[in-house]
Amino acid sequence: MDGYYCGVSRGRKVAAAAALVAMGGLVMHVGEPLDSIGAGYPLWRKTGLIGAPARAAVCVLAGVTLLVLGWLYRLLFCPLLLLRAPDDVGYIAEDGRSRAQAANEVRRRRKIGELLPPVYPNGWYRAMDSHTLRRGEVKNATVLGEQVAVFRGDNGQAYVVDAYCPHLGANLGVGGRVVGNCIECPFHGWQFRGEDGKCVKIPYAVKVPEFAKVRRWPSCDINGQILVWFHCEGLEPTWKVPEQEEITRGDWVYRGRTEHFINAHIEEIPENAADIAHLAHLHTPGIVSGVDLRYTNSKTWEFIRHDWKVQWEPESDPNGHCSRMLVKHSLTVFGRHWPIMDIDVVARQNVSHTIFYQANVPPPFERDVMIWNNKKYISKPLLVKEDSAIQKHRRWYSQFYSPGSPRLAYQHDTLDF
Ligand code: FES
Ligand SMILES: [Fe+2]
Repeated sequence: MDGYYCGVSRGRKVAAAAALVAMGGLVMHVGEPLDSIGAGYPLWRKTGLIGAPARAAVCVLAGVTLLVLGWLYRLLFCPLLLLRAPDDVGYIAEDGRSRAQAANEVRRRRKIGELLPPVYPNGWYRAMDSHTLRRGEVKNATVLGEQVAVFRGDNGQAYVVDAYCPHLGANLGVGGRVVGNCIECPFHGWQFRGEDGKCVKIPYAVKVPEFAKVRRWPSCDINGQILVWFHCEGLEPTWKVPEQEEITRGDWVYRGRTEHFINAHIEEIPENAADIAHLAHLHTPGIVSGVDLRYTNSKTWEFIRHDWKVQWEPESDPNGHCSRMLVKHSLTVFGRHWPIMDIDVVARQNVSHTIFYQANVPPPFERDVMIWNNKKYISKPLLVKEDSAIQKHRRWYSQFYSPGSPRLAYQHDTLDF
C-alpha cells in the first residue's frame, strides 16, 4: 500500500556501523582461543575454558552473535519489504478453518453498510516506486483495476499507458521494449509515444493511421514515486502533488514498503488519521502483544503500553487536497517512561495515500486491518464531541468525488471492485 521514508541520520548510521564492527570484533575475539602450530592444526589454548562444552559454548555464542549481526544489518541498512497476502492479516480462523476459508467467509457474510461513497476518488494513485523503474525499462502495473504499462524513456521520464495494445491486445508491459521515448509492442512491433500514446511506427505498414493510439494516463514522478492521475470525468490533473523537500534533500530516506490487501472502502483508511480516540484504545497495548485483537489486551503484556497524542488538520490552499497528521508517541515499561522510544511522526496524506515517516518504526497498522476487514461502513456515524475530526475528515475527503464518480453496482454483495 505504501512506501515510506524515515529520518535515519548519517550519524546514526555511522554509530550503527561502529556497533556492527565492534560486534564483529567480539566474534573475532571469541575466536581467539584458536591457535595454529605446525602445519596449521588448530589447538585450544589453555585458558581455563577447555574441552567440548567450552567449545560448544563458544560456537553457540558466535552463532548467536552472527545472527544478531545479520538482523541488525537488515534492520539498519536494508529497506523493509513486507508483502502480506490477502488472508494474512485481519481474519480470525476458527473451528479448524484455514485463514483463506475464514477470509472468504467474512467477505461473503459481512454487511458492508449503506450509502457507501463512490469507489474511486479523483486524484493521484501510486503505480510504483521510482527507483524500481530504470531508464529503458517497462513494467506492468495495476491501477484502479486497470492494467497499465509503465516505462521510463531514454530521456529519463516515466510514462504510463494502457497495457493492452489497441492492435490485437498484447500486453505492452510484458515483453514490450522501450525505443527512445516510445514503447514497442512485443507482438507485431507497433510503437507508441509515451507523451501522448500516439502510434508512430508500424514496421510493416506504409502509413500509420491517425486514430492509432493507446490511452495515455497523466502521471508524475515525485517524492520517490510514480503516480497516475485518475478523474472519472476524464479531466486532466486539477492539482499537483507537492514536492516533499525532506525527500528531495535526502533527510528522509527510503526505508522500504509494506503491502496489505484490505477489505474496506478506500476512505476508511485515511479517516483513521482523524479518528483520534481509537489510538488510545486500539494502539495502547504494547506492540509485543501482536495484532490479533483477541489477545492484544491480555494481562501478560500489561507492563508495556504506548501513549499517543494526535492532531489531524486539512492543509490550506493551494494544498487543500493534502492533510497533515501529527503523532507523538511515548513508551512506558513497568510504569517507567523510555524517552529513547519517543517518536514524533508527521504524516502528510492526500488521495494517493502515500505515507512518509520520520522514524524507523513501522506503525502498528495491522491492528487496524483486522478492524477494517470486519467492519461495515456507516454513512451517519454516532459521534461524540471528541470525534469531531472524523466529520471534518469526511467533509475534506468529499472534494475527491464528483457527480460522475463510479459507485458500486452491487453494494449488498461484495466490496470487490
Ligand atoms: S498486438 Fe501490439 S502490435 Fe500487434
Ligand atoms: Fe490506527
